[in-house]
Amino acid sequence: MILLDGKKTSADIKEEIALEVAELKRNEQKVPHLAAIIVGNNGASVTYVNAKVKACERVGFESTLIRLPENISEEDLLNEIEVLNVDNDIDGFIVQLPLPDHIDEQKVLMAVDPDKDVDGFHPTNVGKMALNLPTFISATPFGILELLERYNIETSGKNVVVIGRSHIVGSPMSILLSQKRKVGNATVTLTHSRTKNLSQITREADIIIAALGIPEFLKADMVKQDAVIIDVGITRLADASKKSGYRLVGDVAFNEVAEKASHITPVPGGVGPMTIAMLLKNTLLANKRRA
Ligand code: GUN
Repeated sequence: MILLDGKKTSADIKEEIALEVAELKRNEQKVPHLAAIIVGNNGASVTYVNAKVKACERVGFESTLIRLPENISEEDLLNEIEVLNVDNDIDGFIVQLPLPDHIDEQKVLMAVDPDKDVDGFHPTNVGKMALNLPTFISATPFGILELLERYNIETSGKNVVVIGRSHIVGSPMSILLSQKRKVGNATVTLTHSRTKNLSQITREADIIIAALGIPEFLKADMVKQDAVIIDVGITRLADASKKSGYRLVGDVAFNEVAEKASHITPVPGGVGPMTIAMLLKNTLLANKRRA
C-alpha cells in the first residue's frame, strides 16, 4: 500500500510557488495578494482560513484577512465583496463557507468578480470548468487531480466512483475526471444518498473518491482489492485524549481499507493540505492573468 502524502506533495507545490514569487520579486513585479473573508466564529472555518493566510506568508504572497461579525447583513457583506472586486492590489479572494443562515450563499458567490474568484465557485467559472475551458478549478477537486498526477495514478479508462454530489467536491470531481484531460478520461459514476446498492457499485471501482461527510463510512467490504482510495472527509469527533478536544476522522475506515488499497490518502495529511496548495496556485494564476 502506498500512502498518498498530501502534506509532502503540498509542501513540494508550495516550494515551486515560492520560487516563482522570488522570481517576481527579483524582477520587481507585483507579488500575488490573496484576501479571505470570514463571517462569524465557526471553529473549523477559522482554523482553515488562518491556515490559508499562513500559507500565503510562507510562499511570499501578500494576504488580507477580513473578519466580519456573525450578524452582518447580507447587504454589508456584498459591499465588502465589491470593495475587494475593485481593489487593484487584490489578485484573488475567497469567502469562506458556510455562511450564516440569514445570508444567501448563492447571491454572495455570484457577487465575486469571476476574474478574482480563486475558489472557482462563481457560476461563470463552474460553467467554464464544465466545458473544459481555462478557469479557476476549485481547490479540492484540483488538489485531487494534482495528487493523482504526481503519484502517476492512471485514470484513463478506469472506473471511478465518486460518493457525494456537493457543489464543492463531488459534482466538479465527477465532471473533471470524465473529461478529455491529462488526469481524466475515466468512466465516472456519481453516487449519493439516494443511490441503491452502493456497495455493489463501489466494489467495481478502480478509484473511489469519498466526499459525503460521514465518518468512516467506506468499509473494507465495499472496496475491491488494489483500489485507489481518496478520502475527502474531515469530521471533528470529540476526543478527550487530544489537546484540542477532538480528532479528525475521514469518510474512510482507514485501517481496514488500507489493507486492501493500492494507494490511499490519510486524514489528516491527505486531501486537506492539497486544497490550500491549489488555492495558492489559483492565486498565482490570477496574478499572472492580471499582470
Ligand atoms: N468551506 C469548505 N471548503 C471551502 C473552500 O474550498 N472554500 C471556501 N471558501 N469555503 C470552504
